[in-house]
Amino acid sequence: MSVDVFLSESKIQERIEQLAKMINKDFAGEELYVIGVLNGAFMFTADLVRHLNMPVTIDFMSASSYGDSTESSGELKINLDIKVDIKDKNVLIVEDIVDTGLTMTILKKNFEARGPKSLKLASLLYKPARNTHKVNIDYLAFEIEDKFVIGYGLDFDGRYRELPYIGVYSAEDSQ
Ligand code: IMP
Repeated sequence: MSVDVFLSESKIQERIEQLAKMINKDFAGEELYVIGVLNGAFMFTADLVRHLNMPVTIDFMSASSYGDSTESSGELKINLDIKVDIKDKNVLIVEDIVDTGLTMTILKKNFEARGPKSLKLASLLYKPARNTHKVNIDYLAFEIEDKFVIGYGLDFDGRYRELPYIGVYSAEDSQ
């Protein structure tokens, strides 16, 4: 296989600082509950929170959607739930990529039902070409074309999450 660097480490870090500035401005004087969605968003969450300057509580969750992506609704399987109570709290969900949008659509609904004061979504990547479930991304780092990307938390078959940059995966040259 081969990996072409698509978004460099410095480009990612620069953009994350810009997003953090927006979040700092929007939540000035407030507390924020940051919920990272595992596994893909572990690196993005860790880098983003380093630039936040309000009181922050961090937790993680893991969920997967199943059902046909062409269905208007799907089932959400929560593999690991948050331990904090988000009722009446400002919540920021941090995701790696919104692809079809199915996972975030149903995860947001699940979180809304818990009665937060506010609910926002930050996503590192968004692939509009594959989107079938419109989901509002409040803080988006990069909109990308329809390519399978890896690195900076994103995996192919559990691998490449450790890369500090985002690359385009190609199965050619595989050994
Ligand atoms: P969605 O429900 O289709 O939006 O699914 C989003 C999930 O699919 C993400 O959280 C990723 O785990 C995975 N995914 C989608 N596109 C890619 C990609 O290009 N690389 C790695 N994982 C991806």
